[in-house]
Amino acid sequence: MLEQSIQELESSSLARIASARSLEELEVVRVSVLGRKEGALTHMMKELGKLPPEERKSTGKLVNAAKQKLEEALAAREKQFADDTLRARLDTEWIDLTLPAPGPRRGHLHPITQIQQELEDLFVSLGFAVLDGPEAETEYHNFDALNIPATHPARDAQDTFWLEGSNLLLRTHTSPVQVRGMEKLGPPLRIVAPGRVFRNESVDASHEHTFYQIEGMMVDRDVSVAHLLYFMKVMLAGVFQREVSVRLRPGYFPFVEPGFELDIQCLLCGGSGCPVCKQSGWVEQLGCGLVHPNVLRMSGIDPEEWSGFAFGLGLTRLVMMRYGIDDIRHLQGGDLRFLEQF
Ligand code: DAH
Repeated sequence: MLEQSIQELESSSLARIASARSLEELEVVRVSVLGRKEGALTHMMKELGKLPPEERKSTGKLVNAAKQKLEEALAAREKQFADDTLRARLDTEWIDLTLPAPGPRRGHLHPITQIQQELEDLFVSLGFAVLDGPEAETEYHNFDALNIPATHPARDAQDTFWLEGSNLLLRTHTSPVQVRGMEKLGPPLRIVAPGRVFRNESVDASHEHTFYQIEGMMVDRDVSVAHLLYFMKVMLAGVFQREVSVRLRPGYFPFVEPGFELDIQCLLCGGSGCPVCKQSGWVEQLGCGLVHPNVLRMSGIDPEEWSGFAFGLGLTRLVMMRYGIDDIRHLQGGDLRFLEQF
């Protein structure tokens, strides 16, 4: 009677072990069969004592054999689960040690640097050299040699940062590099000079104490306003990637004569009037003109023999126009959420 129960328990338990789908399910089977308190087989072992001695021995063997068989089956199934998890982990977690390392995250160039490099490439392709000048500049290069009179308000401490303990100042524009270019190269010459400039301004959405310009100068024989216009149109078409209409208005800059303010037809409304161009259809873009004879003469170039044009424009301004940025302070603010958009 007991023997039959043992055999039935054994085969039903083996079936449960085989069909268990997790370690938890397996544990439930183990407890219900071999558990110390409620295990069915444990219970049967306790029953042995009630049997007559001759039966007790053979039935005891049977129970022990069943117990051993079930323990083995449990252990085997447990190992199978462990193997399966390991295989699954190996499948998902494998590393190919022969792959190249991902390396550090790449940054990118600041939008002002990007536009600066585009303009440098463009002017190099037109035969211009790219020159650098010092940010701490002499009064002579920043003002005198550019025909800016000693009484000019730009020389005021309100507009210019003067450096204490020296006769240097922080250059207020890139124009002094015209002078350095003429001194260094002599005529004929074609140069551009991008760089950082400084003004003693109170900062707001459209004024910064530090910003970027690019200067250009060409000195050759019989250079005229027609040459100036040609190069300005090529430059602006390059920057904005389309044909732009320009107009010249008279503008006063002591180092050029005649001097102009160059406007472009508003790229947003096409000239019909919008908030960006303040309903005028035109946007002020840069200062330019034919190099003043005094400026040539001061740098040792004979204005009877040579003539030239010069221009200067704000790179910061250009970036703001290109991307529709409404506050100049974003550009030097160092906020990555802003910079990562370019
Ligand atoms: N230096 C001038 C400024 O900072 C810009 C400028 C005007 C540059 C006319 C030039 C020029 O070369 O011809 O406002």
